[in-house]
Amino acid sequence: MLVIRLNKVTSTQDFAEAISNMLYEDFLIIAEEQTKARGRLGRSWYSPKGGLWFTYVKKNFRTEVIQLSGLKVAVAVLDVLRKFVDAKIRWPNDIVVRDKKIAGILIEAKTYEDNINLSDLFIGVGIDVAVKEFPSDVNATSLHLELRKEVELSIDEVITKIDEYLNVDNKKAVDIVNQFLSLKDRDVILKGENWEKKCKALFVDYMGRLITECGIYEVEDVHRVETL
Ligand code: BTN
Repeated sequence: MLVIRLNKVTSTQDFAEAISNMLYEDFLIIAEEQTKARGRLGRSWYSPKGGLWFTYVKKNFRTEVIQLSGLKVAVAVLDVLRKFVDAKIRWPNDIVVRDKKIAGILIEAKTYEDNINLSDLFIGVGIDVAVKEFPSDVNATSLHLELRKEVELSIDEVITKIDEYLNVDNKKAVDIVNQFLSLKDRDVILKGENWEKKCKALFVDYMGRLITECGIYEVEDVHRVETL
């Protein structure tokens, strides 16, 4: 696979999206540092040196299976991180330790104009490996802060796990999400565009929606989830 390693880039996601039309096979963009990285819903993502910041691009990805791919990638990253820390999934696809974010996943797709059944899938992953401090408005942690020692995270292992979990059936992936769901049976505040609601979160269903005591929530409708 083509792997492009960059010292500094605005965003591996933007870089991958800019070159993807010219490439016909899966490829990986890794950066040591990003200056304008982004997260879900256009939020900014703090990415100094010390993290694992990458975008993995799957070409000819079946458009119909994009929907649960974020959860599947989250399960893959969770699997790698649980070797080191007691990581959990905060729906929809954050990985947290002690309710602090340690990894984030951004899934974007570009469907082919000449075949809407296939897409380029841009899997953006940020893992706080050796980040030593965060801005005061960022509630995050890193492997280094949790373990107080240097940890080597193998990008090859993360990519292998992502490929493995993208191929598991939806039921298996969602079962793992529920097993490690940080929100399970907890009161949470769900925030959307112009609304917020306090609810008890129950579980994630096989369509990837959050089932709560006050209703069913789709990933796209929930902008933020706060645990109480
Ligand atoms: C989120 O938590 O909202 C998702 C964060 C995703 C961050 C990663 S870091 C590598 C890739 N490049 C980006 O600009 N964003 C993703």
